[in-house]
Amino acid sequence: MKILAIETSCDETGISILEGVSGKPDSAEATPGKPLTLLGNALASQIALHAQYGGVFPAMAKRAHAEKIVPLTIAALEESGLLRLNDSSFVADATMADTIASICNREDEMVSGFVELFNTYEKPDIDYIAVTVGPGLEPALWVGINAAKVLSTIWNIPVIAVNHMEGHVVTAAVSETDVSDNKVYTFNTLAFPLLALLVSGGHTELVLTKSYGKYQKIGQTRDDAVGEAFDKVARMIGLPYPGGPAVSRLAKEFRTSFAKATAAEAITIKTFELPRPMIHSGDYDFSFSGLKTAVLYTIRDLVKERVNGGESSVAAAAALADEEKQALACAFEDAAIDVLVKKTIDAVEEFGIQTVIVGGGVSGNTYLKEQLVARMAKKFPAVIVLFPEPWLATDNAVMIGLAAFARVNEGNIATQDAMTLKANGNLSIEQ
Ligand code: KG4
Ligand code: ZN
Repeated sequence: MKILAIETSCDETGISILEGVSGKPDSAEATPGKPLTLLGNALASQIALHAQYGGVFPAMAKRAHAEKIVPLTIAALEESGLLRLNDSSFVADATMADTIASICNREDEMVSGFVELFNTYEKPDIDYIAVTVGPGLEPALWVGINAAKVLSTIWNIPVIAVNHMEGHVVTAAVSETDVSDNKVYTFNTLAFPLLALLVSGGHTELVLTKSYGKYQKIGQTRDDAVGEAFDKVARMIGLPYPGGPAVSRLAKEFRTSFAKATAAEAITIKTFELPRPMIHSGDYDFSFSGLKTAVLYTIRDLVKERVNGGESSVAAAAALADEEKQALACAFEDAAIDVLVKKTIDAVEEFGIQTVIVGGGVSGNTYLKEQLVARMAKKFPAVIVLFPEPWLATDNAVMIGLAAFARVNEGNIATQDAMTLKANGNLSIEQ
């Protein structure tokens, strides 16, 4: 069985094709634990496009997804060996272009590409189309959804609607191995109850799962997501979007040089102490906007004598010494990660958690991994802590295909009429 998965919820356009057991979901062959092969994967990042503005602009993201989605679909199918040219006697249905144009009436960019795709290639051997329907930026989500509608209608393939956050959960729950030229995924047997710490540019939440596919949110951010805070702090110290990895790199440089310093040198190194918002709130909610503001005020204080007026963030960042940027990045990362780890461990204790899963772009943060693994090992050594493969931590379509397969494996596949799909920017993981 093959699933073509589509991801367009934010600033990455992804198409992937995964192959699992040959049986349909209601057959005996579709049991958990069977490996899945990644046949093809195509991903286009819009980072360069959004970097100049310091964040993602939905209208621009939508246009970039619409321009990329057909070429990426062809690339992923080609890599999978599933593309066959139509024979020369093929005559396209005269109404096909009209159907595509009416589905994509807000994405003109895709129409001619799809018409050419269907005129050029035969229907590939795909059983399901999985598509992200939320959460995310609605204009961006619609591009993937409309692409799914077109593919489903013209090729007559059923669709599976996928929650993006479930994709992040599932990605940490598989083992990845290389077999020949392919990546192969196997679902780990998980011990429940399970806790997922979901940390991305749009989300910071703790999700409790007592059985697979059923989620209960026990806490979430009340303002900024942690990835968003990383991105904003990056901007304050003059680093381009998305600044999470760069802030983390500076923080690491600081920790390394601090560790190497002699005692006499260490007392001369400037360090900063930042608040850990809501760390003692007694619940599982987060807040990162105050921490971000604390960084802003610290920078203002530092540079006020150096820049006239000191108001422009560009001027302020330029007036910071490299060591100050490193020390600020470190203080920020220490505070943000401390709160995430503390609340995760508290929840492990309260709910008797057996497995912790970390998902979303910030799960690629090495300091989070080090701290969570070390502190969990000390307090709850028997609890399994899982992170996704680094290359799958940020958005991609493999995670969407894996989430769809996870549902298939449970016999819990819900296909629906593609034409009823809708984007839901605030779609919750609790269903
Ligand atoms: O999951 P993702 O790709 O997109 C969303 O669904 O939001 O997450 C992207 C976010 C960005 O805010 C980015 O700065 C952050 O994840 N991020 C990191 C790291 N890698 C990505 N933040 C901190 N440390 C990292 N290594
Ligand atoms: Zn994401």
